[in-house]
Amino acid sequence: MTEQLTGRTIFITGAGGVLGSTYVRRMLAEGARVVATDLPGARAEALQEAHGDKAGFRFYELDVGDEAQVTGIFQRVMGDGWNPDVVLNNAAITGEMLMGAGKSFPDFADTSVEDWEKTLRTNLTGAFMIARQMDRDIVGKYPSTLINVASMYALNGAHHPIYDGMPFKNFSAYGVTKAGIHGLTVWLAGYWAQRQATVNTIAPGAVFNNHSEEFQRRVGELIMAGRMCQPDEIADVMLFLCSPQSRYMTGQMVNVDGGFSAW
Ligand SMILES: NC(=O)c1ccc[n+]([C@@H]2O[C@H](COP(=O)([O-])OP(=O)(O)OC[C@H]3O[C@@H](n4cnc5c(N)ncnc54)[C@H](O)[C@@H]3O)[C@@H](O)[C@H]2O)c1
Repeated sequence: MTEQLTGRTIFITGAGGVLGSTYVRRMLAEGARVVATDLPGARAEALQEAHGDKAGFRFYELDVGDEAQVTGIFQRVMGDGWNPDVVLNNAAITGEMLMGAGKSFPDFADTSVEDWEKTLRTNLTGAFMIARQMDRDIVGKYPSTLINVASMYALNGAHHPIYDGMPFKNFSAYGVTKAGIHGLTVWLAGYWAQRQATVNTIAPGAVFNNHSEEFQRRVGELIMAGRMCQPDEIADVMLFLCSPQSRYMTGQMVNVDGGFSAW
């Protein structure tokens, strides 16, 4: 894998999050040039603090739900001399963000249309707008690849009992957007096939992020590997999808979930 990313320019949304920041660190270590984007705030600042001095790193503020911002983003980035070979639709409202840390998720019956639509706007419409802009500015001009991010809860339902008594639940709109994003992948795969552009979905499993021992035990029982994963275990596969070695793959969903989806 080493050096396969050398000289490759990777554009990533939501780069300051748990997985995004891991991807950025690993991509830079593999020699990629990384164009990181995220909402302004503490995550963006931490990312710039960690990598701002590196020649292979650039940061741009970007709200993927804002059509005007998305419309101009590749022109700005390419105007600065960074032509993305890989575009990574990683940004998402993961639930915790929407509700605010510490505030519990609503029951389904209490889910507001506002929260539902806010989630769709970022996770699905945002990903669509990035893909559409990639079509306008990149696809057909040189070989490129788009990676959409789904979840183990895209094509499989959430196991609601594991959330009993937990400070968080599984948010209905989240899984819906993650199922939808693979629809975008398969639609685009055929649409772009003759224009040297591929598109795939990665579906990460349960990533450990300081969850309680009880939650780890419950979710671990649903996973063949018997445990949650580390962000680097998702990054291992992400690096492959970003590399030229994945050039013959298109329209696929790659599950990286310790076997969760296989039984
Ligand atoms: N962590 C997991 O267990 C897990 C599992 C499956 C899938 N995923 C997916 O992986 C991706 C990354 O997840 P994560 O765990 O790093 O989540 P995270 O919440 O840590 O990071 C999400 C990032 O998206 C950004 N974001 C939110 N709204 C945005 C907007 N409107 N515009 C631009 N950026 C925005 C946030 O600022 C944040 O940096 C997401 O698509 C998520 O759904 C995560």
